Parts: sequence; structure tokens; C-alpha cells
Amino acid sequence: MTSGMRILVTGGAGYIGSVVVEELLASGHSAIVYDNLSQGHRDAVLPGAEFIQGEILDRQTLESGLKKHKIDAVIHMAASSIVGESCQNPAKYYSNNLVTSLALLEAMRAAGVSRLVLSSTAAVYGESEKPLIDESDPTCPTNPYGDTKLAFERACHWYEQAYGMRFVSLRYFNAAGATKFCGERHDPETHLIPIVLQAAAHLRRYVEIYGDDYPTPDGTCVRDYIHVSDLARAHVLALDYMKRSSGFFNLGCGGGRSVMEVVEAARKVTGREIPVRIGPRRAGDPAVLVASSEKIKRELGWAPEKQDLQIIVASAWEWMSQRAVANRVT
Ligand SMILES: NC(=O)c1ccc[n+]([C@@H]2O[C@H](COP(=O)([O-])OP(=O)(O)OC[C@H]3O[C@@H](n4cnc5c(N)ncnc54)[C@H](O)[C@@H]3O)[C@@H](O)[C@H]2O)c1
Repeated sequence: MTSGMRILVTGGAGYIGSVVVEELLASGHSAIVYDNLSQGHRDAVLPGAEFIQGEILDRQTLESGLKKHKIDAVIHMAASSIVGESCQNPAKYYSNNLVTSLALLEAMRAAGVSRLVLSSTAAVYGESEKPLIDESDPTCPTNPYGDTKLAFERACHWYEQAYGMRFVSLRYFNAAGATKFCGERHDPETHLIPIVLQAAAHLRRYVEIYGDDYPTPDGTCVRDYIHVSDLARAHVLALDYMKRSSGFFNLGCGGGRSVMEVVEAARKVTGREIPVRIGPRRAGDPAVLVASSEKIKRELGWAPEKQDLQIIVASAWEWMSQRAVANRVT
């Protein structure tokens, strides 16, 4: 694997972006974080990275950042990514995920930067008929969030045809877990593992489970949880892959875990009661959603290293606990 590249990470002050930065620095690359801090945190930017507080639509700041730092490639993490919100406010999503991303491509063209890794999503597939989704499955998003990511993937394809800009789109399922330095702090929090751990920490009274009558072993939905460090490693591998080609890749553990299994894992890890309440199903929630990661294993040599659900949950709990102690001390 080559090192020494200069990588601009949009959204690098967010959850996954901060771990990508950690992985870039550990691999010998330089990381320049570009983030407007609308959802990210200044203290999530590791000391070894440079930071530009900027909005992607601010063309002057972005283009001069790309030129000044002689950027070799961009990893594009910045986005709005709450499925429910995207249905209520599609304008926000087409603006922040599509218009903004097109502006990024134009700034890159002007600065002569021709490689982009995009964090895409499993939501591009919509409600798949198959339990194990691969990249040849039809893309048919059922919400504006997935649609904006798919539209931008298509733009990347045509930019490659016309302008020779290489890209790798990584379609994730459920990012989870934490490293020693970086973890998940969204407001509002919509992801299962931090919600379950908030209940363990008495920061919420109970966990609501949306339906327990699905055709799964325990009746709750099954999803593919992938450790955030495994995700970050794939982004760094994609930088090398772009020297040869462009492409789309799924990223998942290939084995699904149910909502109830996540709650059980959290009970074991924390040793605490975690009250649950069974609510009605949510519209559009498929019973099982799991990725086939065969393509990325074959072509990039990537494989998940932290598949054990208890290890994933324990890493998130450790990070939350450390922060709680630090906040009490300061
Ligand atoms: N978390 C998941 O499970 C998951 C799953 C699939 C895909 N993704 C994708 O991964 C990426 C990162 O997700 P995350 O969970 O780390 O999100 P996050 O909200 O923690 O991070 C996004 C970051 O982008 C920044 N940002 C947003 N709009 C911006 C703009 N216009 N200009 C500059 N900065 C901007 C925010 O301040 C934030 O720091 C997103 O693109 C998301 O769609 C996430």
C-alpha cells in the first residue's frame, strides 16, 4: 500500500470521518479535514490532521484548500444522513447531498484533483428481495437520502467518462463501534447501538423496538453491523484501487444480527438492565438487510476484522464511558 498521499476529508469531524482520518494518519498519509461543524465536533479532529472549517458550497475556501494543500484525493463523507428526516425535508437532502457534492466535483476539477472516494449507503438498493445484497442488485431507493447518494454516484460515473475523474463508491450498511479516540455522538441519535447504550447509562428510559413479528428467528429486524475501523480501512484501500480503476463496493460483515441480539450483547457488555418496549413496525423497514462483501474482498483484499457483535458494542461502551468520565472531570 502506498503512503504519503495528501487527502482532503470532507465531514472529517463527524463520526466515521474522524475514524477515517485516524486510519489515514496511521497509514502514513496526511489528512486535511474540511467540515462546517453543522453536525461534527472540532475536538473529533485528531491533532495530527489539519482543519479547515468550511462549507462545501463556499467554492473559494474549498478550491483554495485543495490547491494550497496540493491534495491528491478527496474522501467525501460530508452529508445529511437521517432517512426519516429526508422524507420530511427532501429539499435539505437534495441540497446538502447532491447540489453540494456536485459543487465539490467542480472545485476538484478546477484544482486538478481527479480522485474521489465517496461514502454511499445501502439505502441505494431500497427494499431488496434478497437477504444478501450484492452490487449487481437493482438500485431503487425508497427515500430521498438513498436517492441523493445514488444520483451522485451516477454523476461520478459520467464525470469519469467525460473528464477522467476516478472514483470509488463504498456502500455501507450500519456503521458501529468506536476506536480509543473517536466514537459516535449524533444529536438526535438515530442509530441502534448508541441508543441501547444510552439506555444502559440511564440517559434514556428504554429502547423502543419497532416490531417483533418479522419473519426472523426472534421476530426483530436483522441488520449488518460493521465496525467503524473496518470501514475506515476500506477507504484507505480505495485510494490505491483508484490508481487502477473506479468502482462500487458494498461494505458489511456478511452476517446479520437482530435488534434483540444487539440489546442482549449490550446487557452482557455493560452488566446493566436495558428496558425495551415493543412498538409498531416502521414503514419501509425490511425484515433482513445484509451485505455481500465478496466483491471488495476479491478486488481490494479487504475483510472485516472486528465482526464479533460484543467486541463492537464493547468498543462503543468504552468510548462512551471514557467521555462521561472526562466530562465529569472537566
Ligand atoms: N453512520 C452510518 O451508519 C452510515 C451508513 C451508511 C452511510 N453513511 C454515510 O457516511 C458518511 C458519514 O456518516 P456519519 O455517520 O459519520 O455522519 P456525521 O453526521 O457524523 O458526519 C458528517 C459530517 O459532515 C459535516 N457536513 C455536513 N454537511 C456539510 C457541508 N455542506 N459542508 C461541510 N461539512 C458538512 C458535518 O458537520 C459532520 O461532521 C455520510 O455521508 C453518510 O451518508 C453513514
